[in-house]
Amino acid sequence: MKNGFGMKALALMLGAAAMNAAQAYDADWKRGRIYYRQVCTSCHTAELKKPIAPNDSTKAQWTAYFQADKHGKNTVKHYFSSQYRDSIKAKNAAAAKYADLPEKDLIEDVKAFLQKGAKDGDAPAGCN
Ligand code: HEC
Repeated sequence: MKNGFGMKALALMLGAAAMNAAQAYDADWKRGRIYYRQVCTSCHTAELKKPIAPNDSTKAQWTAYFQADKHGKNTVKHYFSSQYRDSIKAKNAAAAKYADLPEKDLIEDVKAFLQKGAKDGDAPAGCN
């Protein structure tokens, strides 16, 4: 009897773990595209006088870029943080619209867009 209960508890735990895995975040590349274009690209265009297109780099290069997490003096993550979104939301529609999203979801969304739009991605994306 004791053992039977133990097995049931184990089965429940395994079931819960499987459900967690099933609920893993499903990145939204369209939202990533909006964020990339309105937040990332608008600053690149303003400060560099040219955009940085998704198809300037390969999928592997984008993956490495996010892994390194270095953007000038900041991290790449900094530009996804809720503090950063807060600081620009008065002037930036995408930052305002996504002000309350978890930072890690937004990062996954933009990564998904960049994988899709990379030079060797499913839908290489320029700047428009
Ligand atoms: C406030 C302005 C600003 C924002 C916002 C911004 N960038 Fe940048 N980005 C720059 C500048 C300036 C450079 C070039 C020099 C440097 O790295 O600081 C740059 C360079 C880059 C580069 C070229 C590689 C490198 O590090 O030099 C990549 C890739 C990049 N940014 C990605 C992003 C992504 C992705 C986002 C949005 C999540 C983003 N940037 C948001 C200003 C910005």
